[in-house]
Amino acid sequence: MASLIDNARKLQEEFTAEAGKVRETPRSSLIEELRVSWLGRKGALNKLYEDLKSVDKAERPEAGKAINQLRQSIEKEVNELKELAVGFEIKEKLSRTPVDISLPLKGELSQGSLHPVTLMRSLLLKAFRRLGFTVYDGPEVDQDFYNFSALNIPEHHPARDMQDTFFLKDKNFLLRTHTSNIQIHAMLQEKPPVRLVAPGRVYRVDNDATHTPMFHQIECVVVDRGISFSHLKGIIDSFLKSVFGNDLQTRFRPSFFPFVEPGAEVDLQCTICRGKGCRVCSHTGWLEIGGSGMIHPNVFESVQYDSEDYTGFAFGFGIDRMAMLAYGLPDLRQMFTGDYRYLSQFPIYR
Ligand code: DAH
Repeated sequence: MASLIDNARKLQEEFTAEAGKVRETPRSSLIEELRVSWLGRKGALNKLYEDLKSVDKAERPEAGKAINQLRQSIEKEVNELKELAVGFEIKEKLSRTPVDISLPLKGELSQGSLHPVTLMRSLLLKAFRRLGFTVYDGPEVDQDFYNFSALNIPEHHPARDMQDTFFLKDKNFLLRTHTSNIQIHAMLQEKPPVRLVAPGRVYRVDNDATHTPMFHQIECVVVDRGISFSHLKGIIDSFLKSVFGNDLQTRFRPSFFPFVEPGAEVDLQCTICRGKGCRVCSHTGWLEIGGSGMIHPNVFESVQYDSEDYTGFAFGFGIDRMAMLAYGLPDLRQMFTGDYRYLSQFPIYR
């Protein structure tokens, strides 16, 4: 018993000496080391408590008291040191040589680069803003109404098969299959005239070299009195020329989309062979980049626009598709792997 109390006293002296050293430079890391070695689970104090178990019952209270006193004194010192650390560490930081932010950098500076889809989207939005369009955004998780039924694609209509859809558990919600849902959101919010573009992610159950489950589209809607197909052709021709260059032709092919009448698919002269015919365009000289048409009266009806008074056009183009064409990228899937080596080939957008 005498030995345990002696031991406690000895440990107190040891601790005081150690703490005294830490006090000279009270850094948090040193204080933490000190705390763990004395108060930690495997620390000196716990060992003393272990020893206490084998002390004679009658003498245990006194021995216990000695250990408790030691613990309190250690705790007090550790807390004091922690307070000292705050001021000490600030002073230490301030006394370091300041960083001269005007010094030139040594070595090579690694610059970030923008994703090809981001680059293409910026180019497109710049072209549309110049033409006076408003940029719109819409939900990626949407209701059936906006993605399908309001766009003249009723339930059970075979046109729904054109787009394999990811439905959510609650079947009334889905991942939008196209940016055309924004047509409905926008027209319900705005009175005509409208003139807007909306870029965004879309989702379909699809995966091969030219299709990914997520891809990007840009939707365009124009509604006003007296809008005709020639406006549609003019706008498409103008923005494609501003993105791909003046010498490329565009072509319209009649096609069916439930939300337009008439509908047309839009082709751009192949950016690789410039119309001569190559592997990329399957030797046709043309590449398909999206759909377009005059907005169907049924669509106007679902947003309460008067189709006797107003007409409009819409189109939806693939942004990834256009990026592939502009930058000569062979595999769409590669774009979404996030591989830094692949992405860093693209120049910073200026
Ligand atoms: N939403 C169609 C698709 O994803 C593309 C499209 C076709 C959009 C015709 C339009 C349009 O606005 O008028 O396949």
